[in-house]
Amino acid sequence: MVTSKLNVVILAAGKGTRMHSDLPKVLHEVAGRAILSHVIDCAEQLSPDRIVVVYGFGGERVRETLARPCLEWVRQAEQLGTGHAVQQALPLLDEDSITLVLLGDVPLLKARTCKTLLKHAGKHLSLLTVEKHDPTGYGRILRGPDGLVRAIVEQKDASDEERTIREVNSGIMAMPTRHLVAWLGRLRNENAQGEYYLTDTIAMAVQDGTGVVSELASDEWEVAGINSKRDLADVERQYQQAEALRLMQAGVTLRDPARIDVRGTLKTGRDVTIDVGCIFEGNVEIADHVSIGAYCIIRDAVLGEGTVIAPYSHIDGASVGSHSRIGPYARLRPGTELVEEAHIGNFVEIKNSRIDVGSKINHLSYVGDSTVGRDVNIGAGTITCNYDGVNKHRTIIGDRAFIGSDTQLVAPVTVEAGATIGAGSTITKDAAADTLTLSRSKQITIPGWKRPEKKKD
Ligand code: UD1
Ligand code: CA
Repeated sequence: MVTSKLNVVILAAGKGTRMHSDLPKVLHEVAGRAILSHVIDCAEQLSPDRIVVVYGFGGERVRETLARPCLEWVRQAEQLGTGHAVQQALPLLDEDSITLVLLGDVPLLKARTCKTLLKHAGKHLSLLTVEKHDPTGYGRILRGPDGLVRAIVEQKDASDEERTIREVNSGIMAMPTRHLVAWLGRLRNENAQGEYYLTDTIAMAVQDGTGVVSELASDEWEVAGINSKRDLADVERQYQQAEALRLMQAGVTLRDPARIDVRGTLKTGRDVTIDVGCIFEGNVEIADHVSIGAYCIIRDAVLGEGTVIAPYSHIDGASVGSHSRIGPYARLRPGTELVEEAHIGNFVEIKNSRIDVGSKINHLSYVGDSTVGRDVNIGAGTITCNYDGVNKHRTIIGDRAFIGSDTQLVAPVTVEAGATIGAGSTITKDAAADTLTLSRSKQITIPGWKRPEKKKD
């Protein structure tokens, strides 16, 4: 039972040399979000009293990118080790709290696991360990004959025998803050790396009788740290695999669970089918019986029941009503609202427009800043000229209007209900209801006209 306050310290000051990048390591993205932002999310789910982030290399950029009101920031000017890093946070911590140390480069950690760890952290040092197939590089867990944790030895300080141990330190631990303060004060840097190791506190806890309890992480990915681009790609795949599994468990048919990317929140109804190569970003909600073709990119969108999205469509900031048919190769941009049963075909771009029930825009058109009524048919190649170079203007098209192919509607302009526009027209003035409006020069034939012939030299 946790009764004390909870303080979380996130270590994120490391350079990340092995990323070979100008971007601070913790700002590289997993599932479209900074690595560190995943760790912060995990911390927030624990409702702690404080979250302190220890930053260093490229820190200002990290602070700016991840500014959140719940965070306090401490700079570690020189990276002298994980123990030294935690020391920088001490002045901000509550004396009567439990401190949970998280690593800024371990993004898949679950709040549930942290809660288990916190159970014993009011009295003891509580340590999260993991069995690694290949433990190279990690601190090894040394246990006594009684099976209890005795100490941690870092890879570079370990004997050959110790290096065969496969149980390793995840780097994540929790303990009473007052003990942490005492232990950190006694740290020395007499080791292979000349660093102040946080891990040396384990042996101290054993010595002074505080005791160490350990929890084993459920799988190694949960505590996998990102040190290289290879690690980044591996963790990304793990995240996506888990996301695909979650979708299938919710009843979604994935044509290939290895070929979907979710970079945000994806909510799905019953009998949703998603073909290969689709990317979902931001918040996407998909209702029942929706089918999404291959290679669609869908961001911040709502797709209504029974809608079919054909391959290679891009949907961003749009709401698509039920029983609509979109694509292939359609582009719906922010502010698009398709009420219901819309047909939007290939190479059609729609922006900031409301299209009412049953209207069709099937080929090669641009509709921007428009209000389109019900059962309207917009012919191939129609363009709303919404921009005069300075300001944007609206186009209004009434119910049942028929816009002939290759029409330009120069906004602001209104086409009234039931109006027909002849193909190839440039419409600059309002078109009256239930009549034919057209603006086009008369067709003429020039008798005796000859095609030019190639010159002979
Ligand atoms: C650390 C642990 C090791 C554990 C491993 C798990 C120590 C001494 N070793 O090793 O037992 O198996 O994590 O991933 O703790 N950092 C700072 N300031 C520093 C040094 C590090 O903020 O001066 C931060 C880094 O940004 C990183 C984290 O602490 O987020 C871990 O540092 P890193 O150098 O990657 O430690 P490891 O050698 O991996
Ligand atoms: Ca590491």
